[in-house]
Amino acid sequence: MRPSEGTEDRRTTDVLVIGGGVIGLVTAWRAARRGLTVAVVDPEPGGGAARVAAGMLAAVTELHYGEETLLGLNLSSAARYPAFVAELEEAAGLGVGYRACGTLAVALDADDRAHLRELHALQTRCGLASEWLSGRDCRRLEPMLAPGVRGGLRVDGDHQVDPRRLAAALLVACERAGVVLHRALAERLSVAGDRARGVVLRDGTELTAGQTVLAAGSLSGRLAGLPPAVVPPVRPVKGQVLRLRIPAPYAPFLSRTVRAVVRGSHVYLVPRENGELVVGATSEELGWDTTVTAGGVYELLRDAHELVPGLTELPLTETLAGLRPGSPDNAPLLGPSALPGLHLATGHYRNGVLLTPVTGDVMAEVLTTGVLPDEARPFSPRRFPAVLSARQEQPA
Ligand code: GLY
Repeated sequence: MRPSEGTEDRRTTDVLVIGGGVIGLVTAWRAARRGLTVAVVDPEPGGGAARVAAGMLAAVTELHYGEETLLGLNLSSAARYPAFVAELEEAAGLGVGYRACGTLAVALDADDRAHLRELHALQTRCGLASEWLSGRDCRRLEPMLAPGVRGGLRVDGDHQVDPRRLAAALLVACERAGVVLHRALAERLSVAGDRARGVVLRDGTELTAGQTVLAAGSLSGRLAGLPPAVVPPVRPVKGQVLRLRIPAPYAPFLSRTVRAVVRGSHVYLVPRENGELVVGATSEELGWDTTVTAGGVYELLRDAHELVPGLTELPLTETLAGLRPGSPDNAPLLGPSALPGLHLATGHYRNGVLLTPVTGDVMAEVLTTGVLPDEARPFSPRRFPAVLSARQEQPA
């Protein structure tokens, strides 16, 4: 029997999570571990942007000016990863491909080198561990790098995980923790009086819960029935990603994640233990389009080839495009919205996989105790005026 075909009591839980990507699943799993009854509604739980993502845990190498507050949350989540993975792998009986391999960010010309020097200065000001290397030292670490590499940053704390395996493990962990999975589309939010009360499915079934969590990634703003001022300001940002295979004679092709800015475009190469090499990613503001384009594939291969020329020998096994849930300040929206009973866990943009452990912890805490932990407060949905105005409109 599929869970969504179960008895009436499965239609009412303490918590209902809309969205079964890694953020929705980790919220559900952590809340269930805290003793709450939890359901997830998603036509394909375990899917979402994590199917496309490379899985870099790049708090330090993806640091940007103006994102120092987000850096704190990113570092907090990165620090949780080893224990989180151990607990999840134990709970699910599945591995998630976590590799504490570090990252090398390199420069190919004088402009890229200047960019990298600025990043290094910012990292140093933020107290982050990052070492400047000459081109020769970069190639000593990674012999497949192009001879023209002009220097780089060695960041031993930026690791990787396999997002598909992470999602699969979270799904099993949820099932084992008693989370009810409704494999269906949430058609609209239902609101009773001044409170969120759950969702109505396409077939008219209503699922109700004391607390509802909207964790639908880039689709979060599209749920019908959201009061207009509570609609989260998330937008889709397309990323095209390639997967290649490293045949045994070429291994180890790269020993760590290698990344660069090539003529202003970010490119990264993430080598997995299982012989997969993930190359990403474009960043395109094209609405809901998820077409893999010749231009996107060409640019990724061109830039990756400049970085690691031997890459063009490898079999190309997959091309895919996904949608990052971008927010106005590139940071997630976590915790209670202005509508009582409705929480948000969305807008994770470039950092969904990295922020999975801390999101699970803070969401489980607020769902259990009603209190959003201090470290998540800067990421309250109420920081955005539209959401604030909704709060003002709510009856006291
Ligand atoms: N964090 C990698 C990306 O968003 O492409």
